Amino acid sequence: MDNAELQLLAKAADLLAAGDLVIVPTETVYGLAADGLNPRAVRKIFEAKGRPSSHPLILHVAEVEQARHLTSSWPEEATALARRFWPGPLTLVLPKASAVPDEATGGLDTVAVRMPDTPLSRRLITQLGRPIAAPSANRFTRLSPTSTDQLDPDLLQHVALVLDGGPCRIGIESTVLSLVEEPTILRLGVISPDAIEEVIGTMVRVSVDGNDGRAPGQHPKHYSPTARLQIVDEVSSGGWGLTFGEAASERQIKVPDDPTSYARELYAALAKLDSQNPPLIEVQRVPETEEWAAVRDRLRRAAAD
Ligand code: TXA
Ligand code: MG
Repeated sequence: MDNAELQLLAKAADLLAAGDLVIVPTETVYGLAADGLNPRAVRKIFEAKGRPSSHPLILHVAEVEQARHLTSSWPEEATALARRFWPGPLTLVLPKASAVPDEATGGLDTVAVRMPDTPLSRRLITQLGRPIAAPSANRFTRLSPTSTDQLDPDLLQHVALVLDGGPCRIGIESTVLSLVEEPTILRLGVISPDAIEEVIGTMVRVSVDGNDGRAPGQHPKHYSPTARLQIVDEVSSGGWGLTFGEAASERQIKVPDDPTSYARELYAALAKLDSQNPPLIEVQRVPETEEWAAVRDRLRRAAAD
């Protein structure tokens, strides 16, 4: 890091320590960060996003030890998963320690923790000396930003500083795995149930349509552009949409046919079409295979009324 970057990092840490909001890069999507142990700062996140305060946030850490301190029990599975997948796009839900404010967990007695795979954000957490609470840096139910040019001006009004880390490498939000009872995936992501089973040696349940409505990633309408979105077999010739074939016009974007690249480009592509204020965005159906599961989940929610 050069001097200018170090100064920016120090400034970001000072702002967080003072209770302000900072936008931070992660490998999945950009996060809207606050000091995770400061209830007043965490409340600002909900105001900025327009998100109900009962929705729990993820606390981001720079060290495994820091995550353990936020929990009241840390099973062997957590150690094994952290060793294999951290830093990276896996969030673990565990019983919370008393130091974690209710504001960060939506009043739940569990806490979500993850270690982001961007050195810039980990250095920021280290410099602050505390975990950062950070939901995706979008307004409630809207698309998560995967680069700083997708940030919503209304959201930015609440933010003291933006740390730009360039485009996000993964592009969709982390896998959320609860280890509170039997291992259960609450949100699909690029770390698959199979990959998790391989590490912990037991079956993983997938329950991504929880019905208590508190989990925003499980909110039926989520990750949505402003325009209506529809999954189709073929994008209409004059219409706006994402297609695996050749784009017929400026209104269409050709998307990659592998799930990793598709995930990386998805939100930026939808944001680009949405900025043209189309009446409808058509998205060509993606394959039904397991490796597309996380992308299919996001598209299904984006298309929900
Ligand atoms: O990739 C990501 O996870 C991004 C980056 C910024 O780290 N963050 C993110 O945060 O997507 P957010 O707030 O948009 O989504 C958090 C997800 C939600 O699905 C929420 O329900 C779940 O984590 N979650 C958080 N705490 C929980 C808890 N105690 N119990 C169950 N689910 C929880
Ligand atoms: Mg979100």
